[in-house]
Amino acid sequence: MENYIHNIPTKIYFGKGQISHLPEVLEPFGKKVLLTYGGGSIKKIGLYDTVMTLLNENGFTVTECDGIEPNPRIQSVEKGAKLCRENDIDVVLAVGGGSVIDCSKAICVGACYDGDLWEMVKTARPGRKALPLVDVLTLSATGSEYDGGGVISNLATNEKIGAVFCFPAVSICDPTYTFSVSRYQTAAGSFDIMSHIMEGYFSRTDDSDLSDFYAEAVLKTVIKNLPVALAEPDNYSARANLMAASTIGCSKIPEYGKLYTGWPCHALEHELSGFYDITHGTGLAILTPRWMRYVLAKDPTVTARFARFARNVWGLQGEDDAVLALQGIEALEAFIATLDLPSTLTEVGIDETHFEEMAVHADLGGRLSRSYSPLMKEDAVAILKNCL
Ligand code: NZQ
Ligand code: ZN
Repeated sequence: MENYIHNIPTKIYFGKGQISHLPEVLEPFGKKVLLTYGGGSIKKIGLYDTVMTLLNENGFTVTECDGIEPNPRIQSVEKGAKLCRENDIDVVLAVGGGSVIDCSKAICVGACYDGDLWEMVKTARPGRKALPLVDVLTLSATGSEYDGGGVISNLATNEKIGAVFCFPAVSICDPTYTFSVSRYQTAAGSFDIMSHIMEGYFSRTDDSDLSDFYAEAVLKTVIKNLPVALAEPDNYSARANLMAASTIGCSKIPEYGKLYTGWPCHALEHELSGFYDITHGTGLAILTPRWMRYVLAKDPTVTARFARFARNVWGLQGEDDAVLALQGIEALEAFIATLDLPSTLTEVGIDETHFEEMAVHADLGGRLSRSYSPLMKEDAVAILKNCL
């Protein structure tokens, strides 16, 4: 088992009605709030009114930064950072999904950064000065409510960069806010949760038992609850389990004590959405089974771990690891098929034009060539082609 450092400074308020704590969690940071949100879903579900009432009744001054896009753009970071400086903002309050929270993290750092903000994103590192961030989560997916990372896109350069900005001080996670999430975003977001776990689960470390059992439990939680949430969008128990899984999914806790894996499907997916602005979870659902089939066929040393995945996650039985390993991938494919997500890159309008460029860029920091089963440029291109 490898060394690790546990350091997640975010306080989670989980469950129905936790929004009532909003004034008291903002209060220590000051009275001037930048409220960030997306394209309007928070207005449709009444959350905007709830938040504004709480802020107004408790004497906060609110500046709004709306219109943050899915796959948030650097221009939104620039806009938010400027509003913070112009209005002498004390604290940023993000209300929305991963895109709003990610963008707000970059705004928190950008507001204190002297210089070009795309450069700030590209050189991001832990410990930079940042305004405090509080968020209210409305979509179970990224885990941005419980990690320090954020992913920002620059359409001018076709880059989508994941970087470490700052942790939220507080995340309010009320599953009832996710009742309105569409079938498509529920499926894509839940697959993102599964991917965060699988990216760390397929690792060379076999003796970090707590992490592996934790990972398997999160996967089984999504496999059990996602079909329920899709059939009954306002099923509290299903939505609550997905939200709890989201929070833990990207926290790195389920891969403590394990060797670096590179998160190869994420490295490739960020290329796809950087070039084509597709939904992150959809890209992952297309890529992941192809990556699995590719590494299993090429690298016999991964067989035992894939067989464990089949046994412990999908409940499959058998003596022959090679057979089981393949059956585990087939079980995942069958599960994905029930989600009605696009199943090929062709369906989402992607062809092979940029695959070579993507394969090179995705390997920055050795994310592919030093991954669980090392991928060279030609391997990455082959996996992408298998997704067409
Ligand atoms: O913009 P609004 O109107 O709010 O609508 C959003 C958006 O259209 C909508 N939505 C959110 N909550 C809703 C709702 N619709 C109805 N009811 C609600 N309660 O859903 C759409 C998608 O929202 P978005 O925030 O983009 O989705 P998600 O949470 O999946 O975030 C995706 C972004 O996070 C990044 C992704 O790459 C992508 O840019 N990631 C962030 C990570 C992190 N911080 O650690 C890790 C992930 O691997 C991922 O890369
Ligand atoms: Zn993800």
